[in-house]
Amino acid sequence: MANYDVIIIGAGPGGYVSAIRCAQLGLKTAIVEGRDTLGGTCLNVGCIPSKALLHASHMLHEAEHNFGAMGLKGKSPSVDWKQMLAYKNDTIGQNTKGVEFLMKKNKIDVIKGWATIPAAGQVQVGDDVLATKNIIIASGSEPASLPGVEVDEKIVVTSTGALELGKIPKKMVVIGAGVIGLELGSVYARLGSEVTVVEFLDAITPGMDAEVQRSFQKLLTKQGLKFIMGAAVQKTEANKTKAKVHYKLRKDDSEHVIEADTVLVATGRKPFTNGLGLDTLGIEMSPRGQIKVGADWQTNVAGIYAIGDVIDGPMLAHKAEDEGLAAAEQIAGKHGHVNYGVIPGVIYTHPEVANVGETEETLKEQGRNYKVGKFSFMGNGRAKAVFAGEGFVKILADKDTDRILGAHIIGPAAGDLIHEVCVAMEFGASAEDLAMTCHAHPTYSEAVREAALACGDGAIHA
Ligand code: FAD
Ligand code: NAI
Repeated sequence: MANYDVIIIGAGPGGYVSAIRCAQLGLKTAIVEGRDTLGGTCLNVGCIPSKALLHASHMLHEAEHNFGAMGLKGKSPSVDWKQMLAYKNDTIGQNTKGVEFLMKKNKIDVIKGWATIPAAGQVQVGDDVLATKNIIIASGSEPASLPGVEVDEKIVVTSTGALELGKIPKKMVVIGAGVIGLELGSVYARLGSEVTVVEFLDAITPGMDAEVQRSFQKLLTKQGLKFIMGAAVQKTEANKTKAKVHYKLRKDDSEHVIEADTVLVATGRKPFTNGLGLDTLGIEMSPRGQIKVGADWQTNVAGIYAIGDVIDGPMLAHKAEDEGLAAAEQIAGKHGHVNYGVIPGVIYTHPEVANVGETEETLKEQGRNYKVGKFSFMGNGRAKAVFAGEGFVKILADKDTDRILGAHIIGPAAGDLIHEVCVAMEFGASAEDLAMTCHAHPTYSEAVREAALACGDGAIHA
């Protein structure tokens, strides 16, 4: 019987990154994956395919809206949907094969099949029972269901079906104005669908800084997305070609129906632990179905760890990766650590939206004394040159110490710019530290520096 130091269950970003670190630290490692390909939700039906479609549809938008102004004349491209899906699938393939290569390179045994845990120290795949000192559960998440809404992945779809539609719908209703709804909603809006987003709350993207929420919704509305806010979806009715979405407006309980060719259900995801046998093992779970772990990512059963979407915290690939690294280090006797206060979030629409740390709302709740430095991309030469003057950088800093507490960016390359602030926060930097750092001209990052300057004596180009 093979004898491992660590067996990891699930080859998503949490699992495969953890496996690599385990191997680097000299642990004999295996990874078990039930899907045909490695990479988990993120590479197969999440981050990567959605970004490919966001990129392709953004290119179309640029051709239709901005090429003429730059003197690039000629016929606008038309959409070959089959080819666009082939490009998306090719992108997935390149990435999942890349993970396979990394497993081989690091001498990690890849075991294909669905794993169960008969007892601590054992992982079963099919008829084979493997012995191991440690187990890391990285089994990820799946779309949450909505009462009254039956998903068929053709007319009423989750994100998985929305990445593989037979054709571009004329009308799409998106249930939920969260990250998935807005990213995939923007893809189809740019490809010509009439997109209506039905959201339970009164603001989009729950948990984000309220000022950003408002600006973001305005920008998306300008791009053609329609929003029905404060609306609780009651049920859907679908036939082979269309679906009706029934919803109630929370302000007056009035009932409404909206019809669509495709309904995207994007109302959150839930941990996936089916078939692992956690009940029998007595592993403690939260009321939301997450595996409970301690500061070392170990469950209440010694030698069984859990990371990523299956535990508490934001359901993000990079959060899963960081936990994967840290759990591997803990198992190897090192001091793996994740700074949960500095995990960036990015929405890859156009413009992108990115955030890290506190929002004005959380700071008010905590009664903190803070200041705001804000700078609009309209004052950034590079952004204006590429039709990206919409949006702003907002830095929140402690009023007394000047220490950076959070940042919110809506604008070009926001998802990359945010990391400058993340690094600053890791080092406990002040807004002045950022403001005193020379930034190359002309770059979008100058807007970050200007926002930092605005926390002190003032931005220059405002
Ligand atoms: P997963 O990636 O879900 O991987 C878990 C793996 O475990 C799966 O492959 C599953 O088959 C396998 N598994 C489960 N049970 C077993 C078992 N018993 N035996 C064997 N294998 C098993 N996050 C971002 O940070 N950026 C993004 O841009 C982004 N975009 C997204 C877009 C969409 C449409 C979706 C749905 C999600 C997106 N996410 C994004 C979220 C991201 O995909 C997840 O946070 C991330 O994949 C979580 O990683 P994980 O390793 O915890 O789990
Ligand atoms: P989400 O939690 O981001 O948003 C769900 C939205 O649905 C919320 O606004 C909620 O109020 C709304 N809602 C819930 N019930 C409703 C109802 N009955 N009627 C109308 N609206 C309702 O969840 P989403 O978008 O499904 O994404 C799941 C996870 O995937 C997120 O946690 C996110 O972290 C991750 N993800 C990350 C991405 C990124 O980092 N760029 C991209 C896509 C997904």
